[in-house]
Amino acid sequence: MPNKPSLLVTRAMPTDVISRLKQDYDPRLNEDDTLWAKEELLQRATGCQAILCTSTEKMDAETIAALPEEVKIIATYSVGFEHIDLAAAKEKGVVVTNTPDVLTNATADVAMLLILAAARRAYEGERLVREDKWTGWKPNFMVGTEVTGKRLGIFGMGRIGEAVARRARGFDMKIHYSKRQRLSAEQEQGATYHETLEAMLPHCDFLSIHCPSTPETHHILDKAHLALMPDGAIVVNTARGNVVDDAALIDALKSGKIAAAGLDVFENEPNINPAYRDLPNTFLLPHVGSATVETRNAMGFKCLDNLDAFFKGAPPPDRLA
Ligand code: DGY
Repeated sequence: MPNKPSLLVTRAMPTDVISRLKQDYDPRLNEDDTLWAKEELLQRATGCQAILCTSTEKMDAETIAALPEEVKIIATYSVGFEHIDLAAAKEKGVVVTNTPDVLTNATADVAMLLILAAARRAYEGERLVREDKWTGWKPNFMVGTEVTGKRLGIFGMGRIGEAVARRARGFDMKIHYSKRQRLSAEQEQGATYHETLEAMLPHCDFLSIHCPSTPETHHILDKAHLALMPDGAIVVNTARGNVVDDAALIDALKSGKIAAAGLDVFENEPNINPAYRDLPNTFLLPHVGSATVETRNAMGFKCLDNLDAFFKGAPPPDRLA
């Protein structure tokens, strides 16, 4: 581009993403990757036409209203966009884009990892070996739950939910799903449809959460919903932490109502509810669903594709607002 647009990049990015963005933009980088407070972000945005942010930056209505007038587009390096007030962006005339599709497989892989790890008590086993407390093979030792033939309920059957279903079919799991709109028979691939989460939960030996974080899904997996699940069911979350009511899940994990949980996302990350750490029947990951070299590069390139389109006057392919 003849006059390179100035671009504020709020977090340190993969090297390949930085190399590409330097070709077409005049970037202001965050080399030491410090988390900027709102005031600092606003100050650094002065003179920038675009912001490439992540889900760690809260672009609420107040922040968006206070953005310098020259900021015309926010490209978030994430598929989730609950950190951005889209209505406020629209009102201010700021375009917003995200990064769908490219993290589908990586996130679905982590959902499968959590399903297997929770079912087979991976945290307990790994700790025994690492701490040199393993005393040898025994028939009744570290016995978990088989996934083969079990029912997997997918809450939020979008791109990632469908990718989890494909993987789980490879483990001979029976797929159930709930979603507002039923999928076509071709997409369903024999999965059982439930109109509501309530209708699906009694059929879930495993539940994998893939819905977006919205006011409607906030703490939706609460005590009443957990009570609908079969005793000894397993819960897995790779979507957003605030979909789960932590206190209710922790109680259910303590009582055995829920046998185990595999969690990659938490409310108030990284300051998670500490009770999860003390439970042997949890397998906990630090929000790494999309953390592969391939995917993190692809997310950055998708942000740049959107920015490139915008600055060439074309519609950004992943426009949200
Ligand atoms: C996403 O893309 O939404 C990931 O969870 C990272 O924020």
